[in-house]
Amino acid sequence: MRVGIVGAGTMGGRYAEGIASGRFGSGLELAGIADLDVARAAATAGAHGSRGYPSLEGLLEDGRVDALYIATPDDAHRAPAVAAARAGVPFLLEKPLATTVEDAEAIAAAVAEAGVVAEVNFSNRWNPPFVAARQAIDRGEIGEFVTLFARLNNAIGSPTQRLAWAGRTTSAWFLLSHCLDLAYWLHGRPAERVYASGVRGLLEARGVPTYDSIHAIVRYAGGTDGAYESTWVLPEGMPSPVEFTFRYVASRGAVTMDTHEQSIRLHAAERTTFPGTLSWAPQRFADFVAAVRGERSPGAPIADGVENTRILVALHRSIESGAVEPV
Ligand SMILES: NC(=O)c1ccc[n+]([C@@H]2O[C@H](COP(=O)([O-])OP(=O)(O)OC[C@H]3O[C@@H](n4cnc5c(N)ncnc54)[C@H](O)[C@@H]3O)[C@@H](O)[C@H]2O)c1
Repeated sequence: MRVGIVGAGTMGGRYAEGIASGRFGSGLELAGIADLDVARAAATAGAHGSRGYPSLEGLLEDGRVDALYIATPDDAHRAPAVAAARAGVPFLLEKPLATTVEDAEAIAAAVAEAGVVAEVNFSNRWNPPFVAARQAIDRGEIGEFVTLFARLNNAIGSPTQRLAWAGRTTSAWFLLSHCLDLAYWLHGRPAERVYASGVRGLLEARGVPTYDSIHAIVRYAGGTDGAYESTWVLPEGMPSPVEFTFRYVASRGAVTMDTHEQSIRLHAAERTTFPGTLSWAPQRFADFVAAVRGERSPGAPIADGVENTRILVALHRSIESGAVEPV
């Protein structure tokens, strides 16, 4: 299967390596990488024996592409996703599906019309602690969902140094899209309304016009709820740039996931770090490939991305209005 990539940044580079090295499974070939920055596309593709293109159209004309991985910025998902669907090419699109309901629905409509296999990369559905939680819930071990708490935070270098487009997104789009999706995947309940509050100042002072932190409370069907935290200004001195904890409370038990320490702490002379032991991107990509081959149904369908975008649009409306907003 020849896999093309759109977006040669952090994620595009990682997936290019995974595909070209065989780490993401056998029988995969890197068909080429498209990026507005063609030099970047050429450098990333060239490192893996493939070609860079200035546009998706060029890649599709030239690259004999069987499937696409799309990793453009949060607000630039619609154009490549709709173009892929119209060309009849299956795709795995990075989260969030889109940053407006209109974009999300346009992608969903293009996919439905073309009948292509398409998934959102809600990759934490393959993250081992969450997989184990879902299995315990499915076995009926902890009963019915009651409430949850999710915290996904980053050190300040993420919006100030690593993402050139952080001022065009928020910690909620970038981080809470994962948490809201995990909640939906675990309890399956549609959201009814949301209240959210955001704080600004530190990032604006650094020239990144977005929220430093966003808190939200989401009310779900059946009188249940969830509390969410995403902070984008933690100090760079944190042992790990990602802090992720999640507690799911049910009628006969609870499950707590904490991926922060990655099962190992390395105590060097100057700083403690978490080198990282959990790797789930290969399994995630293998399941996308299996869906394209018709061997399983999509593990993160586009419809779930539409629900995710609806909640996040209402969440941002609530920050602006100061009121509880319907989803
Ligand atoms: N699933 C995950 O765990 C995870 C983790 C990090 C990021 N992401 C998501 O992946 C996406 C990309 O993030 P990143 O960190 O790789 O960003 P990045 O800034 O490192 O890379 C984005 C690349 O897209 C290119 N680009 C911008 N607009 C384009 C367009 N219209 N057509 C082609 N190329 C275009 C840019 O030039 C850049 O090279 C985002 O949606 C982000 O939220 C997902």
